[in-house]
Amino acid sequence: MNIIETHHLSKTYQHKDGAVEALKNISLAVEQGSFVTITGPSGSGKTTLLLTLAGLIRPTSGTFSFLEKELTNVPDSKLARFRRKNVGFIMQSFALIPYLTTLQNVMLPLALTKTPVKDQKRLAMNVLESVGLEKRLNHLPRELSAGQQQRVAIARALVNSPSVIFADEPTGNLDPNLSVEILDFLKNINEKNRITVVMVTHSPIAAVYGNVKIHLDNGQIHSMVN
Ligand SMILES: Nc1ncnc2c1ncn2[C@@H]1O[C@H](COP(=O)(O)OP(=O)(O)OP(=O)(O)O)[C@@H](O)[C@H]1O
Ligand SMILES: [Mg+2]
Repeated sequence: MNIIETHHLSKTYQHKDGAVEALKNISLAVEQGSFVTITGPSGSGKTTLLLTLAGLIRPTSGTFSFLEKELTNVPDSKLARFRRKNVGFIMQSFALIPYLTTLQNVMLPLALTKTPVKDQKRLAMNVLESVGLEKRLNHLPRELSAGQQQRVAIARALVNSPSVIFADEPTGNLDPNLSVEILDFLKNINEKNRITVVMVTHSPIAAVYGNVKIHLDNGQIHSMVN
């Protein structure tokens, strides 16, 4: 089954210095359980594509569907509900809340879906254990190393048991050893838990992890290799 499908998707940003056509006519299908990598030069539209596929920004034209549900024109509130339930997102800059502890950062997505606090704690502790952070529950982000912060971000993306994880340069700020550790972890949840992974990366090492490789150039799919 295709977890994500887009047809003739385009995104134009309106800007006072002129419109930017960031995505042009992207049609693609991602099969459930794939590990997709998106590469391409800076400015080629990778982040824009990821945000659009995750339902975080709206395309200018074209359609996208998720788990065979057409989402192009659903209201914002419905799109947000869909994201909270189905999607985990790992940003390049971690995007942890600075005044919340490790545990609180990971509980946050569950708080948004009004999960009972007891369950929030239990689920967050489980996933933090799986990324090896059970001894850092009460640390603030600034009291953690970069790799640990990235693992908190991964735990937060996983805690709602999403069907797909979107990651934008998840290893961009990490040393090579730590990068491989994070990539192996993503590969593992992809294979074991059948969570679809869609990952933007600049790194040729990271791109090897994909079983579907999309290369963007100037807002268009230059190649897609299965
Ligand atoms: N909010 C915005 N408003 C206007 N233009 C934007 C906006 N966000 C991105 N762009 C433009 O859209 C194009 C695609 O940007 P995008 O962030 O998707 O590129 P990218 O491939 O992720 O690049 P990088 O590898 O540097 O992160 C760029 O030319 C950028 O300047
Ligand atoms: Mg980007």
